[in-house]
Amino acid sequence: MALKKGSILELEIETTAFGGKGLARADSMVVFVDQALPGEQVVARVVKKKKNWAEARLLEIKRPSPHRIEAPCPYSGFCGGCKWQFLAYPKQVEYKTRHVEEACRHIGLLENVKVLPGIASEAVFGYRNKMEFSCSDRRWLLPEQLGRQDMDISFALGLHVPGTFYKVLDIDACLLQPDQGNQILGVVREYIRSSGVPVYGLRTHAGFWRFVVLRHCLNEDGWMVNIVTAEQRRDQVEPLARLLTEKFPNITSVVNNITASKAQVAFGEREILLCGRPYLIEGIGRYRFEISANSFFQTNTRGAARLYEVVSAYCALSGTEKVLDLYCGAGTISIFLAGRASEVVGLEMVPTAVSDAVKNCRRNGIDNCRFIAGDIRYSLKQVELTPDVMVIDPPRAGMHKDVVRQILAMAPPRIVYVSCNPATMARDLFMMKDDYLPVEVQPVDMFPHTYHIESVALLARKGAKTT
Ligand SMILES: C[S@@+](CC[C@H](N)C(=O)[O-])C[C@H]1O[C@@H](n2cnc3c(N)ncnc32)[C@H](O)[C@@H]1O
Repeated sequence: MALKKGSILELEIETTAFGGKGLARADSMVVFVDQALPGEQVVARVVKKKKNWAEARLLEIKRPSPHRIEAPCPYSGFCGGCKWQFLAYPKQVEYKTRHVEEACRHIGLLENVKVLPGIASEAVFGYRNKMEFSCSDRRWLLPEQLGRQDMDISFALGLHVPGTFYKVLDIDACLLQPDQGNQILGVVREYIRSSGVPVYGLRTHAGFWRFVVLRHCLNEDGWMVNIVTAEQRRDQVEPLARLLTEKFPNITSVVNNITASKAQVAFGEREILLCGRPYLIEGIGRYRFEISANSFFQTNTRGAARLYEVVSAYCALSGTEKVLDLYCGAGTISIFLAGRASEVVGLEMVPTAVSDAVKNCRRNGIDNCRFIAGDIRYSLKQVELTPDVMVIDPPRAGMHKDVVRQILAMAPPRIVYVSCNPATMARDLFMMKDDYLPVEVQPVDMFPHTYHIESVALLARKGAKTT
């Protein structure tokens, strides 16, 4: 029988595909089944069919994987925040490490690259130091909530369900953030609901309340609450800020970011400080970092410490080297390396991250780092330093090919490439493979219960000496 949309199939799941889906084969096609695990025998209905592949929805698990566990979160299976809670954590790390290897082989065409076993996250729950909760005027209901009369479907504050951009799952608690974040979220929800001011509709683009972004720092066990709104209304946000700081004395920062953009990004064009200071101070190792609402900071702080140790080991600095830190965010890697380098130059696009980087150097007594603000595609041309080591930590999309071209022309003997996306990392390594040999790749899991993984690749320039 030819496979078609609506077909019900009995499938043996062979492996996982990137994106966390189970991969099976039927009718000489690859079939992806969400929430199915390798080794499982499942029944699934085809919901999408393309030329060489299909997607099927899991209906029944006939033979479960021995690694399948009960997901502790009631939203598991619906929420787009984390998708692998039903898989035992050590297996998550193993499967993700395999994705890194496969990406290197299939996308990077790097046959013999040594991928080390992934480093597991120290904390498996409560590890996220930043959560973005969206407001919506359309609530996505859980199956047991469907048809209930007491459900207000015109309000939600929570996380998106994959595939529904305008509906949001109203979340009481997210297990990925420290528990106090859930209490803070609850207070904000009640305030917004009773404010009488509408939440933003993701289809209508009308309404006031847009996002609630919570940031936690381990160093001082403090919180930043960032209320993102569509316009400025101090009468609404100031009482909320007072309420929060009265109830939670360890909220050290409440800010209001204001954005007129229709894009679903919790990033303000303007920021108003409502209470406390406009930043948190986080610690990694012996260093302290100022983090403002719109600066990038690794979302798993303990994981970041492990990641930076790997970066530092791969940089193998002796004290004399010049380092170029591309996509440096708030200067965390630059500062982490500064003590063992003669000079570090960091490049970053977000101006507030660059000013945080400058302040962070001052705070840590570091005077051999400089930062250049701007898009790397253009700012790389302004760099006068000849780097011995280049650290590259691009966003998920990886590097622009113009940037790769410029890096190859600069020809640093050693590159340490950090990535949160194995596919774009493999693509970028492929673009550099005539000049650079990948010596080793170390996956570091910073994102338990998601299929995401961070990797650090050490690249040596062909013909250059590495130790
Ligand atoms: C994955 S983060 C790395 C941050 C930093 N290395 C760290 O560990 O905290 C990527 C950074 O690249 C910056 N970025 C993205 N595109 C950029 C571009 N075209 N030019 C310069 N910086 C960019 C982002 O603002 C973000 O801070």
